[in-house]
Amino acid sequence: MAKYLVTGGAGFIGTNLVEALVAGGDKVVVYDDFRRGQRRNLQDYKQTEVRIVEGDVRDAKTLKRAAKGCDYLLHLAGVTGVPRSVKDPHETLEVSSIGTLNALTAARDMKIKRFVYASSCAVYGESPILPKEEVMLPAPYSPYGAAMLIGEDLARVFYTTYRIETVCLRLFNVYGPREKPDDDDTGLMARFISALLQGKPPQIYGDGKQSRDFVHVSDVVEAFRLACTAPKAEGEVFNIASGSRVSITGLLAVFNQLLDLEVTGEFKDARPADVRHSLAETIKAQEVLGFRPRVGLHEGIVKAMLWYRRALGKSVKLPRSST
Ligand SMILES: NC(=O)c1ccc[n+]([C@@H]2O[C@H](COP(=O)([O-])OP(=O)(O)OC[C@H]3O[C@@H](n4cnc5c(N)ncnc54)[C@H](O)[C@@H]3O)[C@@H](O)[C@H]2O)c1
Repeated sequence: MAKYLVTGGAGFIGTNLVEALVAGGDKVVVYDDFRRGQRRNLQDYKQTEVRIVEGDVRDAKTLKRAAKGCDYLLHLAGVTGVPRSVKDPHETLEVSSIGTLNALTAARDMKIKRFVYASSCAVYGESPILPKEEVMLPAPYSPYGAAMLIGEDLARVFYTTYRIETVCLRLFNVYGPREKPDDDDTGLMARFISALLQGKPPQIYGDGKQSRDFVHVSDVVEAFRLACTAPKAEGEVFNIASGSRVSITGLLAVFNQLLDLEVTGEFKDARPADVRHSLAETIKAQEVLGFRPRVGLHEGIVKAMLWYRRALGKSVKLPRSST
C-alpha cells in the first residue's frame, strides 16, 4: 500500500485516478481548490481512504503540509484548456508556474519518491510534422501550451538540481466518464456527447477537418500508475495517447454510426490558438513505461455515453450490444 497526493484530484482525470488508486488498496490525499473539481465525485470514500484538503496550489505552506507522509505526488491541478488560457493567460500561467514550483518544492522537502506531472500535447504547438515525438523541440502555440511547458521545465530543473525523481506525461485529448459536460472549458468529446444527449447539433469550430488523438481516461490512469514505479522513467517526458487520430467531422460520423443518427454539426468560426492536427508517437511510453492503450475509440465512446446517460439522466439510444 502506498500513499498518494493528487493535486487537482477532484477534477476529471483526478477523480478517475483516485478511484483506481483506492480500488488498488492505496491511500489518497486530494488537494484541490474546487474551482472546477466536483465534491460529489469524492463523496463515497471513507475518510481512511481519501482525505480531502481544500487549497490552492499557489499556497505553498498548505500544499507542503498535505504532502507530509506521502510516497508519490501526482500533479494535475491546473487551469485546463486553450480557450480559457486565451481569455486569461495570467491565471493559467500563474497556476502552472507557481503551482508547479510549489508542488515540486513540497515533493523535495517531504521526500516524495516520485513526482508525476500532467503535461499536455499543447507543448508541441502547430508544427505540421506528425506524429509528435518527444525529441521534437516544443513550440507552444497557446498560453496554455506555454504554461504546460513551464511546468515541464521546472520538473526537469528539480530533477537535475535536487535529484527529485520527476516524470512528465504529455497527455493528448483525454475523454471518458466524469468530464464536466456543461461548461466552455470542457473537452470536445464531452461537448459532443452533451449536445447529442440534449438533441442538439454539436458545435464544430472551423471546418472540422482538424484532427485529434483521443485517449481514454482509463488508459491515462494506467499511465500515471506506471510512471510512479517504472525504472529509468525519471527525468523523462512521455507522450500518452492512443497513437491514432480522427478528424472532428470523422468523429461525428462515428457517433452517427454508433447511434444510428444523421446529425450534422453546427459550424462556428475557428478558435484562436487551436492547433490543426495532433497525433502522438507512443513508442517511448511503450518501451520505458510499458504503456499500452487498451480502449479503442468506438468502445470508449460507448462507455462514455453510458456514463453520461446515467449521470445526466437523459435517454439516448445506444447500440443494442452496449446496453
Ligand atoms: N483533459 C485533457 O484532455 C488534458 C490533456 C492534457 C493535459 N491535461 C492536464 O491534466 C490536468 C487535469 O486535467 P483535467 O482534464 O482533469 O482538468 P479538470 O479541470 O477537470 O481538473 C483540474 C483540477 O484542478 C483544480 N485546480 C485548478 N486550479 C487549481 C488551483 N490553483 N489550486 C488547486 N486546484 C486547482 C480544479 O478545481 C480541478 O479539479 C490539467 O493540468 C490539464 O491541463 C488535461
